[in-house]
Amino acid sequence: MKVLTVVGARPQFIKAATLSRALLRAGFDEQLLHTGQHYDSSMSGVFFEELEIPRPAHALGIGSASHGAQTGRMLEAIERVLQAERPDWVVVFGDTNSTLAGALAAAKLHIPLAHVEAGLRSYNRRMPEELNRVLTDHASDLLFAPTSAARANLLKEGLAEDRISVVGDVMYDASLYYAAKGGGIPEHLDAQGLCAGAYALATVHRAENTDEPARLKLILDVLDDFAGQLPVVLPLHPRTAVALGDRARTDYPRIRFIDPVGYLDMLALEKHARLVITDSGGVQKEAYFVGVQCVTLRDETEWVELVEAGWNRLAPPHEPLAMRAALEQALAAPAGREIQLYGDGTAAEKIVSALGGR
Ligand code: UD1
Ligand code: UDP
Repeated sequence: MKVLTVVGARPQFIKAATLSRALLRAGFDEQLLHTGQHYDSSMSGVFFEELEIPRPAHALGIGSASHGAQTGRMLEAIERVLQAERPDWVVVFGDTNSTLAGALAAAKLHIPLAHVEAGLRSYNRRMPEELNRVLTDHASDLLFAPTSAARANLLKEGLAEDRISVVGDVMYDASLYYAAKGGGIPEHLDAQGLCAGAYALATVHRAENTDEPARLKLILDVLDDFAGQLPVVLPLHPRTAVALGDRARTDYPRIRFIDPVGYLDMLALEKHARLVITDSGGVQKEAYFVGVQCVTLRDETEWVELVEAGWNRLAPPHEPLAMRAALEQALAAPAGREIQLYGDGTAAEKIVSALGGR
């Protein structure tokens, strides 16, 4: 059975690492295609090395561009690869432009398509990710939903029940596997006196938060102020770095900006944090995996179970007082409810067995 897996952006390398291992164990012939959407070594290369992801059989090197240009270039290049390789399955992950391009290319060539992390919805069509995930779900033959809420979203849109499997979350699989390999707080931060349980870990990269300078300033002003109370460490996503130019360290002197870190360091930073503050999808869940309270800098989240279970609270990023209040409430909050939300760490195995069963 030949499977072609499409990746391109940071969170997809982490998701693919887990699935690739399971595919290999089950004797599948997997080829990885890297679109090149993310290309800095801190956004791409480090994950392939650290997580021992197979070398991409196809590295398209597409790079950054506007949505249409980037997706269009990927579509054309992926189509060429699929015509040559004719895999039995194309697998795509999540909701990036690489996901959509892979999905469209496969569906138009009538190659069976599987979507990992299907059924997530923010119900905010202004998010590029929402369009990508809705279109990908509707083009897919197999929909691997991480939760029953995701499955319900797909059923509401009329997608056929027999195409949907609730398998759990491959990111949970990854966090279990790699946590065993991780260490403590990264050395350079340790040397600066960063102590376990005594800092907040923040990430900000969502287009809706970074593309409008006034909104980004509002968010970082709140974080800079909060850093007077609890040190805030912020690995800076390149999108946000570009938006800030060279002003980050001068305009927000109390935030500890660092370069993006590898996954093992990120898991360690999450585990030892007092609080996680983020607009990332993956980081919201990872905070829960390690039992740390999370504040999400968004108006809505796809991972609604975490809010309902008391692990996460939404902080509208255009309202500084509400953001500040959410941070204080999260610091004072007890641990959320103990429930298993994202499976039992065998999502990848379940996906592999569904792919093999067709
Ligand atoms: C993309 C995804 C988003 C995901 C995120 C994960 C889309 C529409 N968005 O957002 O869903 O949460 O990845 O991190 O697919 N850049 C670099 N070096 C890189 C990559 C990007 O400098 O290696 C800079 C470029 O200026 C680029 C900008 O970051 O224009 C944005 O990159 P892009 O891949 O378009 O979107 P992300 O914001 O990374
Ligand atoms: N991550 C990382 N280093 C960082 C920031 C994030 O390894 O400096 C990991 C994080 O642990 C999670 C994934 O990247 O597994 C989330 O990716 P991102 O926030 O870029 O995208 P999203 O999940 O929002 O699509």
